[in-house]
Amino acid sequence: MTDHNIKSIHPVESIRGQITLPGDKSLSHRALIFAAIAKGSSKIRHLNIGADALSTIACLQKLGVSFQLGKFTVDVESPGLAGLKNPSDGILNCGNSGTTVRLMAGLLAGCEQMNLSMIGDASLSKRPMRRIIDPLKKMGADISSENGTLPLVIRGTKLKGIQYQLPVASAQVKSCVLLAGLSAQGKTFVEETLPSRNHTETMMKMFRIPIFRNKNIISVHTLRRPIPGFEYSVPGDPSSAAYWVAAALMIPKSRLLLRKVSLNPTRTGYIKLLRSCGADIQIADEKKGLEPSGDLIVRSSTLKAFHIRSKQVPNLIDEIPLLALIAAVCKGKSTIRGAKELRYKECDRISATVEMLRNIGVEVEEFDDGMDIVGGNPVAGGDVYAHGDHRIAMTASIAGLVAQSPVRVRGWSTVDISYPDFYNILERISKS
Ligand code: S3P
Repeated sequence: MTDHNIKSIHPVESIRGQITLPGDKSLSHRALIFAAIAKGSSKIRHLNIGADALSTIACLQKLGVSFQLGKFTVDVESPGLAGLKNPSDGILNCGNSGTTVRLMAGLLAGCEQMNLSMIGDASLSKRPMRRIIDPLKKMGADISSENGTLPLVIRGTKLKGIQYQLPVASAQVKSCVLLAGLSAQGKTFVEETLPSRNHTETMMKMFRIPIFRNKNIISVHTLRRPIPGFEYSVPGDPSSAAYWVAAALMIPKSRLLLRKVSLNPTRTGYIKLLRSCGADIQIADEKKGLEPSGDLIVRSSTLKAFHIRSKQVPNLIDEIPLLALIAAVCKGKSTIRGAKELRYKECDRISATVEMLRNIGVEVEEFDDGMDIVGGNPVAGGDVYAHGDHRIAMTASIAGLVAQSPVRVRGWSTVDISYPDFYNILERISKS
């Protein structure tokens, strides 16, 4: 019997061409959620149409928001935050998406009309939710879960503003508290020890919601008037761009142009790191603003080994499995530490990355909060299991392009979560 969920990726001579990235996944979730908060019609262009964003759409539909989905454009019609209705079956299924469940729990905890359960797939059902239950309870929310995981049961109630110091550097937790703050009485303060992606804050600013930052403390006021409908165009996803950046850097004679990528400084940690290791990545046609973007021009480069420490982690968190693969071609030992959060992603990304690298012939040592990778030896190729995680599947596929023999990716179809077009692009830019 053939296993249709195995794909063999073969080594190529070079990577060349131009790519327009899918819309950023984090910004797509937020644009959809803010279109639901807004009263009236909104239009979102260049939306990420991966399964995760579709989970957010499906949940919002059950709350009474309507969507007309074009190829990359969505028209949204919402009754506004106060007009959202409880789902008729009392269930919101968030699929595989941590961003959907954590942001929407914050949004809905203060809506008194809600009485619902939030559920998800097997992977999401294992992920930690205490990190949002604790602050929401402090705000007065009626939220419960049996053992800190899904299902989450929420009965909407009046909330009060709090001062909350984030115990983990997580944009999802920060956003959950800020969104709950919109319907809380009094101001809500969130203190972050390490800055994480700031898209919720930039979007609140864009919609003139009173949000302020004083050093590392963010404060938000109660939303007194509904925000009006809006038009928004989502910049390209830097985390999706990262796979092509990696391929072009590692494969000789390569040159890629990546168009309209988000250059939000809370997302470009991997570009900064790779440049410091000798990567030839140039930025052109830069557009400044709350959510800056620009084109990336990437050429094959010889890279030095690198060291990632906890301070850098939040700004390159989703790129660490890929950076671990890049480390395999950097001469010398690269080290990653302070990245224990990776164990709580779509799968345990530390153990899945270590397993992947070992299976393709790379020397790697696992630590509780990271790994050491010995680079500079040829990458052999072999079998990799994606563990139901889109970022592991895409990293393993890039490994196939640089290895000496093919990499067989088991569970490749999970790329649909963030990048349904991934393999079409891979084929188009691969030159042999
Ligand atoms: C995200 C935040 C990050 C990231 C995830 C998307 C977001 O998670 O890993 O892919 O959109 O806010 P954490 O905030 O839990 O670190």
